[in-house]
Amino acid sequence: MTLVNEPAITPIRLHDYRRPAWTVDTIELDVDLGIDATDITSRLTLRHGGTQTTPLRLDGEGLELLAISLDGHPLDPSHYRHEDNVLEVDGARDGSVLETRVRVKPAANTTLEGLYLSGSRETGFLLTQCEAEGFRHITFFPDRPDVLARYTVTLLADRARFPVLLAGGNPDGTGELAEGRHWARFVDTHPKPSYLFALVAGRLENIQRDYITANGRAVKLVMWSEANVIDRCHYALDALERSMRWDERTYGRNYDLDVFHVVATHDFNMGAMENKGLNIFNAKYLLADPDSSTDEEYRAVEAVVAHEYFHNWTGNRVTCRDWFQLSLKEGLTVFREQQFSADMNSPSLKRIEDVSLLRRTQFPEDAGPLAHPVRPSEYREINNFYTATVYEKGSELVRMLAGRLGQEGFRRGMDVYFERHDGSAATIEDFLSALGDANGIDLMPYLAWYAQAGTPHLHAQGEYDAARRQYTLTLSQHTRATPGQPEKVPVPIPVKLSLFDRDGRVLPLHINGHAAGTEAVVVVDMASQHVVFHDVATEPVPSLLRDFSAPVVLEYDYSPAELALLLTNDADGFNRWEAGQQLAVLAFDSLHGNAETDACKAWCDALTALFEHHAIDDALLADLLTPPGEIEFADRQSEVDPAKIHAQRQELQRHLAKRIGAPALLARYRALASHTSQSLDAESQARRRLKRRVLELLALLDADTAHALAAQQYESAVGMTDRLTALGVLVRDRAPQAAAALADFRRRYADNPLALDKWFAVQAQVPGEPALATVKSLESDPAFTLKNPNRARAVLGAFASNNPSGFHRADGEGYRWLTERLAELDALNPQIAARLATAFNGWQRLEPVRREVAHAALGELAQRQGLSRNLGEIIGNVLQ
Ligand code: PHE
Ligand code: ZN
Repeated sequence: MTLVNEPAITPIRLHDYRRPAWTVDTIELDVDLGIDATDITSRLTLRHGGTQTTPLRLDGEGLELLAISLDGHPLDPSHYRHEDNVLEVDGARDGSVLETRVRVKPAANTTLEGLYLSGSRETGFLLTQCEAEGFRHITFFPDRPDVLARYTVTLLADRARFPVLLAGGNPDGTGELAEGRHWARFVDTHPKPSYLFALVAGRLENIQRDYITANGRAVKLVMWSEANVIDRCHYALDALERSMRWDERTYGRNYDLDVFHVVATHDFNMGAMENKGLNIFNAKYLLADPDSSTDEEYRAVEAVVAHEYFHNWTGNRVTCRDWFQLSLKEGLTVFREQQFSADMNSPSLKRIEDVSLLRRTQFPEDAGPLAHPVRPSEYREINNFYTATVYEKGSELVRMLAGRLGQEGFRRGMDVYFERHDGSAATIEDFLSALGDANGIDLMPYLAWYAQAGTPHLHAQGEYDAARRQYTLTLSQHTRATPGQPEKVPVPIPVKLSLFDRDGRVLPLHINGHAAGTEAVVVVDMASQHVVFHDVATEPVPSLLRDFSAPVVLEYDYSPAELALLLTNDADGFNRWEAGQQLAVLAFDSLHGNAETDACKAWCDALTALFEHHAIDDALLADLLTPPGEIEFADRQSEVDPAKIHAQRQELQRHLAKRIGAPALLARYRALASHTSQSLDAESQARRRLKRRVLELLALLDADTAHALAAQQYESAVGMTDRLTALGVLVRDRAPQAAAALADFRRRYADNPLALDKWFAVQAQVPGEPALATVKSLESDPAFTLKNPNRARAVLGAFASNNPSGFHRADGEGYRWLTERLAELDALNPQIAARLATAFNGWQRLEPVRREVAHAALGELAQRQGLSRNLGEIIGNVLQ
């Protein structure tokens, strides 16, 4: 299948990278703000890099050129060409100053890239989004991350309509102008790439706090939002302060401007953006209060605030040479956030959460037609490469490097990295060299991880020689072919491992004549290799890939009893959970009808014992009691029937619920529900997490009782976690009490878009055939709009990506509905359309009936005229 518009778009290749012929030393921007029209005057001081004279070529898209002059002289039209998103100017020399004046139309901009309006014309505010290539929608500029310039930005606007004027950098004066207008200037002392430019203008309130950095700088931390939600910014402000202290302590990194602004908007394509000195957040990741945020959302706010703050060093001070190096900042920053969150909360719960996310989002990406390396070698639309592979797998790669170097070695390496590359644009090789040089280790073999797509499968097999008291582990790796990469090479896979005896006691390790404690790391860097353990008294049970020491799929032929042993005895929370997950997979695969298999029995027995003994933390227990999700089960099958997977997973959970028993579940629910504290401390959160799981399990056994409890929990809930849990149980089961609860929720949160998103999402996720009718009714709700990404995700995303049994109808109506919406959305916001279209990833592995109808729906969409480059690329790749 070829796309009508495909041949016109030539890919951009890593291999073709050239240093920029022209760079910019300083840029002065005067922005005259208006909702319908904003005029931008720019003065660039140009630097010519090479010896040959190359014409000056600047990027610019959708700009109306009002005036242009070079070194003070207006340019005659014969001396420049403005066409097809480039401006070519003759006669520029090293040190020349190019001045342009352009006009853009913020209110008409529905892409949420460049300068746009958030909210209504009457009360909304203006803001910018430049990563990756949004700056070219604001002014003419060499819009690439290896051009670092010093910014001076002056904002001019009507004072009544735009009382607050913000840009990145330090404040450098304000003043009045005629006719009720005013101005404000900002100077950024740090050279930065254009994607980190930002401005915000409108009616906003703030909360603020004074902060002194470890190296003594006084900084004002300011959170901005519209007036009605400013009370919900306090948690984020606290989280920001914790992040700053943590980065000082852990990496010795201090903040480097006099102000740090953070702004919340309801209209944002992504989670948040690390613009220098002026972070901009999707409100979903900044606002938090007990009445409208769940415990998970509180943790997400803390994590995203930290992530964006950490970018100030990993991304901003050291930026990326080109967009192929995106993981240099994103993978590294995700890793830093994961370390931070582990320090702030529970390390094993955080690890479980992150590995689940990786398996749910990145593994399917790596196993299908959208597979790409952490450092891609080509792309058509860079916005399509903000993926789970670049972020989440990228973070796993940094984790392996950090593990290889140890805590001190990694810190030493990071210090060298910052020292060498501060104020410049770097590559993945630079990162590996810095870490390696600081420790006298060659880390270049890890480059293969960055260059090669696909999840390696690690096959392990053990052999015990009782006579010689010797245990031999054979470890081999294999990575399947991915699009454009038929041949794969071995990569270094660190395997953290322990051995247990049959009573569940951890064994001392003797490898190659050395005592190695009870845990060792073996690096598998060949196609296959052996590790021999000596002095092993009995045939051991290996605990492999502890703490998920590498992003691979482990294949080891465990018996149910062996996994149950690890689930019961492993001291490490993560590995305990992992053994439980693997055991659940065995149980799932063995289920046929009602007969209880060995695996199912082993899983249920082990969990029931843990449930009864109160020996582990409530939150971990809740996670242990949760089998892998439907997407993870689907990922392991060659012919996927999502309806069947849903039914079978429910069946598996019903076995567990039965084994624990309704009385025990009920008693535990009551005990947990007797604590009414809404505090965010770990213990209260853990109780709510377990209470939810217990209620869900009970609903599988005794629906009437569970629904009555859920209705009561809904009524009496003081916080969103309990309220949404209850609503979810009622809605998913289509319980008689669901309608009243939905109506109440709707009324209660009529003016709270983030809470209302949950109202939409919970309904779009009702499993099975009825979901489509529900989704269609949601679409005609007056509060539904495709213009707001959060709302579009709450319906389209929740349905297509988080509700496999609802979306994958055998009649193909789910697919046809989605492709219609995608075409509509594409005309408004191509980035969001492309992202939601990834729900089709994996259609080739559907069972034949669904495969056929999915193919037809996709083919029809691909044939449409005028698809964006974003959506066109995703559909084209998915169809391969
Ligand atoms: N750089 C942002 C982050 O990860 C993500 C982002 C990308 C936001 C592109 C907007 C546009 O923190
Ligand atoms: Zn990021």
